[in-house]
Amino acid sequence: MSADSKAVYSPPNKVVSISHCSSMEQYRRMYEKSIQDPEGFWGEIAKSFHFEQETTGKFCDYNFDPSKGRIFIKWLEGAKTNICYNCLDRHIEAGKGDQIAFYWEGNDPADRRQLTYADILRDVCKMANVLKGYGVAKGHRVAIYMPMIPELVVAMLAVARIGAVHSIVFGGYSSESLAERMIDAQASILITSDAVWRGTKLVHLKDIADGALEICKQKDLDVKKSIVVKHLCRVTAPQSAANGVANGNPSKKTHFDDKVGWKEGRDVWWEDVMKDAKSDCHAVWMDAEDPLFMLYTSGSTGKPKGVLHTVGGYMLYSATTFKYSFDYHPGDIYFCTADIGWITGHSYVTYGPLLNGATSVLFEGVPTYPHTGRFWEIVEMCKVNKFYTAPTAIRALMKFGDEPVKKYNLSSLSVLGSVGEPINPEAWMWYYRVVGNSDVSIVDTFWQTETGGHVITPLPGATPAKPGSACYPFFGVDVALLDEEGKEISGEGEGYLVFRRPWPGIMRTVYGNHERFETTYFKKFPGYYCTGDGARRDADGYIWVTGRIDDMLNVSGHLLSTAQVESALVEHEAVAEAAAVARPHHVKGECLYCFVYLAEGFEFNPKLAAELKGKVREKIGPFATPDYLQATSVGLPKTRSGKIMRRILRKVAVGDKEFGDISTLADPSIVDVLFQSRILDGKA
Ligand code: WT7
Repeated sequence: MSADSKAVYSPPNKVVSISHCSSMEQYRRMYEKSIQDPEGFWGEIAKSFHFEQETTGKFCDYNFDPSKGRIFIKWLEGAKTNICYNCLDRHIEAGKGDQIAFYWEGNDPADRRQLTYADILRDVCKMANVLKGYGVAKGHRVAIYMPMIPELVVAMLAVARIGAVHSIVFGGYSSESLAERMIDAQASILITSDAVWRGTKLVHLKDIADGALEICKQKDLDVKKSIVVKHLCRVTAPQSAANGVANGNPSKKTHFDDKVGWKEGRDVWWEDVMKDAKSDCHAVWMDAEDPLFMLYTSGSTGKPKGVLHTVGGYMLYSATTFKYSFDYHPGDIYFCTADIGWITGHSYVTYGPLLNGATSVLFEGVPTYPHTGRFWEIVEMCKVNKFYTAPTAIRALMKFGDEPVKKYNLSSLSVLGSVGEPINPEAWMWYYRVVGNSDVSIVDTFWQTETGGHVITPLPGATPAKPGSACYPFFGVDVALLDEEGKEISGEGEGYLVFRRPWPGIMRTVYGNHERFETTYFKKFPGYYCTGDGARRDADGYIWVTGRIDDMLNVSGHLLSTAQVESALVEHEAVAEAAAVARPHHVKGECLYCFVYLAEGFEFNPKLAAELKGKVREKIGPFATPDYLQATSVGLPKTRSGKIMRRILRKVAVGDKEFGDISTLADPSIVDVLFQSRILDGKA
């Protein structure tokens, strides 16, 4: 079915009647206050949290204009707090220690655990003491490379409790990617796990982590400890694996955990070190502007950027967006399917929910194992009220029709969230109609690793939603659209999506490279934070984010830079030059279409294609594998100054002959040759 793009979907009564913000009028009033009087607005919110000391300096201070000096952003200067204390101790002191914080649902439906707030605090304190025992102190970086298990939440909160800085690397990254991030962060401790099942696939995390530590050693980073959760022996292996066929390899044994590599002195089992650790540990009072965590995101130069967030502002912002965007109420059960290795998991699996004293589902598995109704089975079982996932997952599940959804009782649902990329109206409608039974609010939340939390989003009890639009700015977010000259566009129009001033959750710097922070986000349009996305404002003031306008690709909701992929490809001796562009993909949103110009004496064949894909997997990770590889014998289209014109390659990739002006190319004849030998759909 196709969606009527003009349709507007009003919030259902069951949401409006209890909502924290239940009308557009109330939204506008609150929004006005947040812009006119940020100190009053956020100061009031701050009262619900524990601050050991109140702000001594300015409530908010910043500079967004490079011509006026260095870029900086400060909120709540001088205030002292601890986010772990606010996530756990505060609720336990209020008598909520026995409340469930997480229902853990394993890859296999048989594997389930429940953890209360008190359980988590006990383990967090133990792990914090273990880390202190290894010399970890305030400001030190701790790398985390783990599956979606409760120990991951425990690890990050333990790090935060003692004032150290966590750097979580998604468990789908390769050894090289993990090493690159650990070296940039100069992390001296790694927390990982032996392995994890993702569907029927066994991922040997420790092997990959060991590979990374080897690279770290070569680059003079001495990683003192690797703390390893023994996870595999406590979960159910997939049927196929139990028969001795893991990953399609019949020679794999059924006892998967007896073969992890081990380095005495460096490697310790999590379970062993936790046994004797003391279960109390005081929270270190941090300055609001002390670093809380860094999380790497792709940059257009190809080198990942360590996005740095600080304690106070991030705490207020992740908590407040969670409360309002999902309209969270005590007693609600909330389920976010994102991996904690991405920002969505940081803000909306761990911090936002725990700061609100919420009960959530923590899910280890994948949407299609052991069947395509897995999400909905969990929703029914845990009586989930608020559900948050990505358009790529929705599209993947849509393919199986309505049946796997209709099998389950989903009447508990009232708010469905979407994040990661623009959601196409068809997917929006399916989510609304089939999953939500046309009786839910859909919140299409636009934000970035850099923004810390939602910046443009509907509010479930207030905003009439338009499928495909992220609607209106969140409290404190001052949106503008700029034209190519940097002039503000008022009313209807399309341009660069920027923000005029900081909200509490915005990143503070790129770790170890403040200049890169300034150039990436503030140089193009002085006085504004530039998102790198384009957007359109319609006649009703709704914002429609149209996607990236730089050399970035959004594959399944995750950003990759063309440079990152190209540099992986040219590492192969057969490749002289490479260019990567995005091609629309029915499930992933965008996928990679790569052009390779081979070096003398090499011939393109399936073996080489497999090697090149392998190279990308090795350098970045499996999720970045190109779907299409086109070899060229005539070179790549370049300007006379030698710049590859990716604009033209994007057209070739989708089979569009409207190239526009190609007269500036050094050799325009290349374009036709590339077009003739382009890969047609389905021939990847
Ligand atoms: C980029 C940020 C924020 C968590 C997930 C991705 C795109 C994200 C939306 C949305 C349109 C969206 C943007 C953005 N994006 N959400 N609701 N509508 N586009 O985090 O990896 O930092 O990527 O994802 O292009 O800039 P990220």
